[in-house]
Amino acid sequence: MKRVPVCSSAVKKPGCDGKNLTIKSAACSRLVLGIETSCDDTGAAVLDEKGAILGESLHSQKEVHLRAGGIIPTVAQHLHRENIERVVRQALERSDVDPSQLSAVATTVKPGLALSLGIGLKFSQRFVKQHNKLFIPIHHMEAHALTVRMLHPVAFPFLVLLVSGGHSLLAVARGVDDFLLLGRTLDEAPGDTLDKVARRLSLRKHPQCSTLSGGQAIELLAKNGDRMRFPFRTPMGQTHDCCFSFAGLRNQVTMTIIKKEAEEGIEQGTLLSCVNDIAAATQHTVATHLAKRTHRAILFCKANGLLPSSSPTLVLSGGVASNQYIRKALAVITETTGLRLLCPPAKFCTDNGVMIAWNGVERLREGKGILPPNVDVCYEPKAPLGVDMTAEVKAAAIRLPPVRIKIPN
Ligand code: KG4
Ligand code: ZN
Repeated sequence: MKRVPVCSSAVKKPGCDGKNLTIKSAACSRLVLGIETSCDDTGAAVLDEKGAILGESLHSQKEVHLRAGGIIPTVAQHLHRENIERVVRQALERSDVDPSQLSAVATTVKPGLALSLGIGLKFSQRFVKQHNKLFIPIHHMEAHALTVRMLHPVAFPFLVLLVSGGHSLLAVARGVDDFLLLGRTLDEAPGDTLDKVARRLSLRKHPQCSTLSGGQAIELLAKNGDRMRFPFRTPMGQTHDCCFSFAGLRNQVTMTIIKKEAEEGIEQGTLLSCVNDIAAATQHTVATHLAKRTHRAILFCKANGLLPSSSPTLVLSGGVASNQYIRKALAVITETTGLRLLCPPAKFCTDNGVMIAWNGVERLREGKGILPPNVDVCYEPKAPLGVDMTAEVKAAAIRLPPVRIKIPN
């Protein structure tokens, strides 16, 4: 038997069986089941109130989508439907927790792929009704932003850069449900760009990359590449705000690939001899763009007193944050500006059930956004995070001092 830090009479105690819905009255460590299905990972985890992970399970659809050349929503939905019951059961079994011992179920309901969100939400609503549990709807990006607090004692407010396959945003986290949005992507997310570049380069045919996501493949090949060989322009050099754009960079890279294919006399779908150099230059330009926008966000925060003077912190998270080169580029900026840089380890940067359960724990502790089992909730494929401050950031038009982002491979 594994350790379950609930009191022995947990099932009978008010607040632990979900029948007494007064969430402040629990006399023992409250347990939260987290469920994630917003994109292509079916994740579940059980956490106690202190953030100890009692058990987790994750089913990744990456292989299927890699073979298909991208995420097909109906395929993602089918795979979530096939796996969710097993994934949740495994998380509970690995925790040695019976549903009756849970205090609440936290589930991603926004933003994400409609068909994927729908599976997690439907499953969760049935589950909370069946077991009479509290329900905590979760914003996927809020969960990415807060994960760091499960691992380090990071007080609010802090600056957060979230970069994944579906998102790119800069925000000040002022509280569990209180964010100021400083920047967001105007077109695609950096992970999406890296995935598309990797696909255009046919990196699945590369012996070292066949099972890697686009971002992972680019990072691996870039280690042996010369980034100087293709001097791609850093996006939005003349726009003095904190928003992002990656579509233009993807276009620059695609034009280069077409030119190189013509020079080498090869067809699209064949590996170019210069893939490493293209990977290195693409990764460097993405890193530089992220670093510059973040630099401006830090200066904006300083000018407006949005971060504490003692130990101001930048948190970097989301799937793309597992990239070591990008982490180093951000470290150059935090060193220059006197911030502490915190990045959760890679397994907590990508999507998982743990981060959703943790967001549930944070909300349960504060009594925020907690619903009784019988309330119907709708999913929201598009959902901005926090109060939109992008216009104020743009109006401030902060010029950046020159910073040399030189990172050894
Ligand atoms: O957060 P995540 O698991 O799912 C989304 O919410 O999108 O992020 C997945 C994205 C993919 O685009 C993948 O290519 C990218 O994160 N990614 C990386 C790395 N590992 C995953 N990008 C750059 N470098 C990596 N090492
Ligand atoms: Zn994510």
